[in-house]
Amino acid sequence: MKQFFYAKDIGDIKAALEEARQVKANRLAWRGLGEGKTIMLVFFNSSLRTRLSSQKAALNLGLSPIVLNIGQDSWKLETELGVVMDGDKSEHLREAIPVMGCYCDLIGVRSFAGLTDREADYAESVLQQFVQYSGRPVISLESATVHPCQAFADLITIDEHKRKPRPKVVLTWAPHPRALPQAVPNSFAEWMIAAGMDLVITQPEGYELDPRFTSGARIEYDQMKALEGADFVYAKNWSCPGVTNPEQYGQILSHDRSWTVDEAHMAVTDNAFFMHCLPVRRNVIVSDAVIDAPTSLVIPEAANREIAAQVVMKRMLESL
Ligand code: CP
Repeated sequence: MKQFFYAKDIGDIKAALEEARQVKANRLAWRGLGEGKTIMLVFFNSSLRTRLSSQKAALNLGLSPIVLNIGQDSWKLETELGVVMDGDKSEHLREAIPVMGCYCDLIGVRSFAGLTDREADYAESVLQQFVQYSGRPVISLESATVHPCQAFADLITIDEHKRKPRPKVVLTWAPHPRALPQAVPNSFAEWMIAAGMDLVITQPEGYELDPRFTSGARIEYDQMKALEGADFVYAKNWSCPGVTNPEQYGQILSHDRSWTVDEAHMAVTDNAFFMHCLPVRRNVIVSDAVIDAPTSLVIPEAANREIAAQVVMKRMLESL
């Protein structure tokens, strides 16, 4: 495996889930695989889970992680091509990326969407420069439009808790005070559809996700109707994807707190499990009662980030 951005990169989903089960049962069994090798984990943005789970997964495989926080540990990097670099950015990605490639065998990159230029974000311009100039396999640790490590961990978690072969999974928009990227809902939808789940997406008008990720899902604008009979409820905020109106890309269109997932919402489900990728704003995205209930899977999801990352790194090491 040379890149990990999309569900198709993992190949057969059932085989990937089986491999995740094997890794989880004995996570140190492949300790020799990464011996003498290094993974560079490059963060342009903050992280708790991705940073820690990636390092832990690497250590399980005997792989040495190097973490680089751009702009804090390094020079500030210019990401645009063709610009006159007379501002505060001292180095261009064009040089920095091949230099990083000299010091490692695998690279993981976190680089969020700017949310001002839809075309640039959806072209994954930063991630693609890593592919082009590093000469190394590249993992998205949440890039402009996708968060595959999260989606794979979410799928592992659903697979572990499902009570029927094809559960009803509802992805619901929820309010948030800041404009957030679409990477998590894009990848969640993409992976649920790839795994054959019965996926319903509910959001206020104007928040339609890009159809390249949601084709095959049912869209329902009435949130309560969408939640009826759900087996899993996945809450997430996202800003306007600009599908129906490109001029609104990255904007907040609604602060409607009636979309906050609370006990009344969960009451119409089939005793559904609650999921969120974290970090989460309590009593904005989800009520205390729902996230603290025994049916909340937010911690098992986070724990499975280590397993998902380990499967991905293992496969990359095996194909070096
Ligand atoms: N879910 C997730 O990616 O968490 P972090 O942003 O803390 O890494």
